[in-house]
Amino acid sequence: MTVPSAPFRRVAVIGLGLIGGSLASAIRTQQLAGMVTGFDTRQDELALGVELGVIDEAADSIEQAVKGSDLVVLAVPVRATRAVLEQIRPVIEEGAILSDVGSTKSSFVADVEAVFGELPPWVIPGHPIAGSEKSGIRAARPDLFTNHKVILTPAQNADQAGLNRLRAVWEGAGATVLTMSVGYHDEVLAATSHLPHLIAFSLVDTLAGEDENMDIFRYAAGGFRDFTRIAASDPVMWHDIFLSNRDAVLRVIDHFTEDLDQLRTAIASGDGATLLRVFSRAKAAREHFSKMLSGQAYVTNNSDKQVTFQMQPGGTVKGDIRVPGDKSMSHRSIMLGALAEGTTEVKGFLEGEDSLATLQAFRDMGVTIEGPDDGFVRIHGVGMKGLQAPRGPLYLGNSGTAMRLFAGLLAAQPFDSELTGDASLSKRPMGRVADPLRAMGAVIDTGEGGRPPLKIRGGHALTGIHYEMPVASAQVKSCLLLAGLYAEGVTSVTEPAPTRDHTERMLEGFGYHVHRDGATASVTGGGKLSACAIDVPADISSAAFFLVAASIAEDSDLTLRHVGMNPTRVGVINILKQMGANIEVLNEKVIGGEPVADLRVRSAVLKGIDIPEEQVPLAIDEFPVLFIAAACAEGRTVLRGAEELRVKESDRIQVMADGLAALGVETTVTPDGIIIDGGQEIGGGTVESHGDHRISMSFAVASLRATGPIRINDCANVATSFPGFVDLALQTGIRINAEGSD
Ligand code: S3P
Repeated sequence: MTVPSAPFRRVAVIGLGLIGGSLASAIRTQQLAGMVTGFDTRQDELALGVELGVIDEAADSIEQAVKGSDLVVLAVPVRATRAVLEQIRPVIEEGAILSDVGSTKSSFVADVEAVFGELPPWVIPGHPIAGSEKSGIRAARPDLFTNHKVILTPAQNADQAGLNRLRAVWEGAGATVLTMSVGYHDEVLAATSHLPHLIAFSLVDTLAGEDENMDIFRYAAGGFRDFTRIAASDPVMWHDIFLSNRDAVLRVIDHFTEDLDQLRTAIASGDGATLLRVFSRAKAAREHFSKMLSGQAYVTNNSDKQVTFQMQPGGTVKGDIRVPGDKSMSHRSIMLGALAEGTTEVKGFLEGEDSLATLQAFRDMGVTIEGPDDGFVRIHGVGMKGLQAPRGPLYLGNSGTAMRLFAGLLAAQPFDSELTGDASLSKRPMGRVADPLRAMGAVIDTGEGGRPPLKIRGGHALTGIHYEMPVASAQVKSCLLLAGLYAEGVTSVTEPAPTRDHTERMLEGFGYHVHRDGATASVTGGGKLSACAIDVPADISSAAFFLVAASIAEDSDLTLRHVGMNPTRVGVINILKQMGANIEVLNEKVIGGEPVADLRVRSAVLKGIDIPEEQVPLAIDEFPVLFIAAACAEGRTVLRGAEELRVKESDRIQVMADGLAALGVETTVTPDGIIIDGGQEIGGGTVESHGDHRISMSFAVASLRATGPIRINDCANVATSFPGFVDLALQTGIRINAEGSD
C-alpha cells in the first residue's frame, strides 16, 4: 500500500522492543508510511509484532528488511549497533534515511563512522524522550510519543529534505521534535536522565545492603518511593547507556559529587545559610522544571501555552479590589536587596513572571531568597561584591526591564554572563544600554542589530560618565545608575523628560545617596547598600485597566486600594481626568518613600483630547488601555511623541490599531502616535494580542462597550505583569472567560 502524502514509502524498524514497537505502531496507525517492516533476532517478538498489528510484515533478515525501505530505524541495544550497521551497509538503498532511537548519540555516531568511514548526510541520529518501566513489544503503544520530545542530532551537512521527512514521522506520532548537536544532547541527557538513574540505582542498592534493610523498605515514605521509582528500570539498558556516554556522565558525576560534598560540609558545620540557599534555589528550579529542561532558567515558556480570552459584551464594574504589586518596584527590590548587606523583607512583591525572572536570576547567582509567599519575600543580601557566576545564561523571559537593568549590574561584575529572553524580548533594542555602558568601559556583545542575547564580559573596571539620554527611558537611566554604583567616580544621567524614579528613591531607601539636580541624577561609585523593609504598592499600570473599565462601563463604582501614586507614574490619571473621568484620590500617604492612595472611580462621559506630550513618559505603559478609553470617548483623541510604544513588548501603536480595526473601529496611525475618533461602534470580533500582556487586558476592557463577543488570542503573557487578572476582572463584573492551558 502507498499512502500518497506519507513521508516514507516503506519503513524498516530493526529491533522490536518497547520503543521500536511503539514507533512502528505509530507509523501504522497514523499512516506515516505505506508499509512497516520489522526485524528482530528474537523470533517470538517478531511473530508477536505481526500478531499484535504493530508491523505489517516480519522480515527474515536485516537484509530483507532494509532492501526497498526508504527509512531504516535502528532500535537495537547500544552494544548491538555496530554489528547491525555492518549488515545494513551493503544493502541500504540510495536515497534512504537511516536513524536510530538510542539514548546516547556520540556512541551511535562513533559506530556509524567506524562502519561507513564517515557520518553520511543521510544518517540522522534520533532519541525519543519517552519510555516506561515496562519493556518488550507487548508494552508497545502507538501513543507512547504523544506530547513527548524527540531529539534529532543531524550533522551540519545532513540531508535537509530527509531531516524534514523524519521530523514529519515523529510529529505524526504526536511528538515535539527538537534538534541539537550530538555533544550537547549527551551532556544534557547525562545531567537530566543518566545521573538521576545512577543515583536511584545506587541509593536503593546502598539501603538494601544495610542490616536493617527490611525495616527501611517497610517504613520508606512516599519520598523514597518517588525518588527511586526509576531504579526499577532495565539494568542491561542502563549498563549500556553508562558505558556509551562515559565522558559526559563522568563530568556530571564529578560536578554532583562536589556539590554533595558542599552540602555535607554545610551540615557538618551547622551552616544553615548554605543549606537554605541550595534548597530554595532547587525548589524554585524544580517548580519550573519543564523550562529548565528546555534550557531556560526560570520563566514559563509562554510560547508553549495558548490562552484565549473570550469576552461577552457589556457589563458594569463594581467592587473594592487591590491589584498586584508594582512591577518596576518589585524588580528593583530584589536587585537592591540582593546587593545589600543584611536581610531585606519585601511585602506586596509582584508574583508575575517578569519579576520572578529577576528573582530567579539572583538565585542563579547564589543569592538566597525565601518566598515569594503571598507577596512576601526575604532576601539574604550578599553585598555589592557577593554575586557568584551563574552556571548558564540568565533567562529573563519577556522582561525588558530585567534585561536592561541587569546589563548595568552585570557589566561591573568580575564574571562573564549572558542574558537571553523570549521571542518578544529578543526583538527589543539593547543598544540603548550597551552603548553607554561601553562608554563606561564595559565589554558587551549584542545579537544582530543590537538585540539580545547580551554577552557581558566580566572583570572590566567601569568609569563614571555623564550621559544625556536620547530617549526618555527609566530603564536606561536605572541601568546606568546601577553600573555607576560600581564605577570609579561619578555617573550622571540626564533625561529629556521625567521618567519613573523608583531606582533613585529605592537607592536612597537602601542608604545610597543619589544626587538629583533637575533632570540629572547621579551616583558616586564605591558605596554600599544596607538592607531595609519594602512595601510595594499596587501597580498603577495594572490599576489602569480598571480605571478605564469603570469609566467606560455604565453604572460603575469601583475602589482600587493602595495604588502607587509616584508623580512619575500618574500620567494615566492626569490624562483620564482631562478626558472627564470621575476619579477620586483618597487616603493619600507616603509608604517607604513612595506615595500611595486609594482610587474611587465611577462611570463618566469621556471626551477626546490632545494628549499633552509631557504626559507620555508618565503614562508610557498605559496607552493601550487609554486607546480603548479614546475609542469610547466623544470626539477625537490625538497622541504624539510616543514612538517608544513601537518598541515595547509589541509595536503597541500598530497592534492596537489592528485590534481596533478588527472590531470595526477605524484609527489613523502616525509614526509617533495615533488619532482615534471616539464614538464609533465597537463590534465583536477576533483580536491578536501578539503575546503582549497589556494588549490582551486592554481588549478585555473594551468588551464592556462592545456590541458582540470578542475573542482575544495569545493571552498567556498576562501572567508576566498581572497574575490573577481573570479572577479579578470577573469579580468586578467584566465578562471574561480564559480558555487554554495556563
Ligand atoms: C520601566 C520603564 C519603562 C516601562 C517598563 C518598566 C522600568 O520602560 O515601559 O514597563 O521599570 O524602568 P522605558 O524606561 O524603556 O520607557
